[in-house]
Amino acid sequence: MSVPKLALSENTEAVLGKTRAEAVVVGTVQGANGLELAPGAEAVDAALGGTLADVLRTLGATGKAEEVVKVPTLGKLPAGVVLAVGLGKPEPTREQVRRAAGASGRALTGTARALTTLSAVDLQAAVEGTVLGAYSFTAYKSEPGDAPVSTVDVVSPAEGSAREHRATLKAATAIAESVLAARDLVNTPPNDLFPGSFADRARKLAEGAGLDIEVLDEKQLKRKGYGGILGVGGGSSRQPRLVRLSYRGPKAKKKVALVGKGITFDTGGISLKPAANMDHMTSDMSGAAAVLASIVLAAKLKYPLEITAYLPLAENMPSGTSYRPGDVLTMYGGKTVEVLNTDAEGRLVLADAIVRAAEDDPDYLIETSTLTGAQMVALGNRTPGVMGSDEFRDRVATIAQATGENGWAMPLPEELRGELDSKLADLANVTGSRWGGMLAAGIFLREFVAEDLPWAHIDIAGPAYNSGSPWGYTGKGGTGVPVRTIAAVLADIADNG
Ligand code: BES
Ligand code: MN
Ligand code: ZN
Repeated sequence: MSVPKLALSENTEAVLGKTRAEAVVVGTVQGANGLELAPGAEAVDAALGGTLADVLRTLGATGKAEEVVKVPTLGKLPAGVVLAVGLGKPEPTREQVRRAAGASGRALTGTARALTTLSAVDLQAAVEGTVLGAYSFTAYKSEPGDAPVSTVDVVSPAEGSAREHRATLKAATAIAESVLAARDLVNTPPNDLFPGSFADRARKLAEGAGLDIEVLDEKQLKRKGYGGILGVGGGSSRQPRLVRLSYRGPKAKKKVALVGKGITFDTGGISLKPAANMDHMTSDMSGAAAVLASIVLAAKLKYPLEITAYLPLAENMPSGTSYRPGDVLTMYGGKTVEVLNTDAEGRLVLADAIVRAAEDDPDYLIETSTLTGAQMVALGNRTPGVMGSDEFRDRVATIAQATGENGWAMPLPEELRGELDSKLADLANVTGSRWGGMLAAGIFLREFVAEDLPWAHIDIAGPAYNSGSPWGYTGKGGTGVPVRTIAAVLADIADNG
């Protein structure tokens, strides 16, 4: 993972006159009469004789979201080009700035050093967007190609003190780096990222952040009765693990448990998936990646909370040792589940981890997973579904909206519960119909959540992985969703209880 070096500069004019940046990034907006420059561009425009907006309009630029236009500075600035990036509608939101900064971060590939003025509009969003947009995953390329931008000078906003700006820069960089850490895990192919190697990587990250870590292997899982994780992971030659990380912050008043689905590859098992796009299932551990990145971030930023994170890790493979449709599993805690479809495996590993997480007696439980294809049918590729206990679910969804990850609250309709009744066990792992597939999975999980524990599950089946073209600050492959939502919920609990 490469993260550009970021340096704050409090005085734009002074920096502009002697900058070593090759490109200066300015924002544009769609004004009532066409393109206008966004705040922060004034000094750049002055150096160009007040012509910048006219030049951009002449080139056909409109200021629409993520539009990128390069203009040569013809010796009027030390930097050779102005990179104008569209924010869209005027009075841009934080997410508009983040996306424009992301587009600029992508467009700066091949540029060694840049100076951005988007930070004059919103420092936090500009930093997050620039770092996220500049990410690329080249670990498996013989020829990595043009490098992402390696240094970005960041212009300070007019309001606030230098000290506040430094703190904002530090937090925004840490948040963005955590998103990238999650992306790296998701983008690592399943032949290299399997339960054992994932646990090893969790250990390295945990040690670096001063977290406690405990890893249960298949023998310990068996001894303690983790029937869900063992059932799902039994078909693979690479045996399952349960990772537990814990962090105790200064003056912690609240305890939060995190759980993330870690299926390192999901073939569907004996209920085998179709071949088309099965490679997408390399992302089926995105929940675990996000949870791991989030607890590391909480430690880095010293959130005043106590946090435990659980990563149930398994590979869902068909083989002679696989679990079968018709099997009954005894889950951690003793509930029995009739497996009617081995491809509904996420809920099984999550159920074990959810029951274990409650033993720590948390005040809140936040879970996330690439749970169901039905999430994408309901909400598309960019909108996570948030389920859970009503009040906490709504709080998480509202915060998700503010981060730009845009989670949306979903119901758990009571009439679906009966469809999970099993002919011989306490519960079946799927219903007999396709309708409300995400909600049925949510209702299954609810059976394992301790009574009265405020709980939210974020289904990121689509949003975790971008199989389309890059957009905003999101490249191809792992997106790192919902790290920023989890981080913001943790910060909110730290502030408001
Ligand atoms: N990992 C999948 C969900 C998924 C699908 C994530 C597409 C990302 C993209 C999950 O384990 C799964 O297979 N769910 C089944 C459930 C069904 C058998 C009830 C699904 O959605 O088809
Ligand atoms: Mn599956
Ligand atoms: Zn899965």
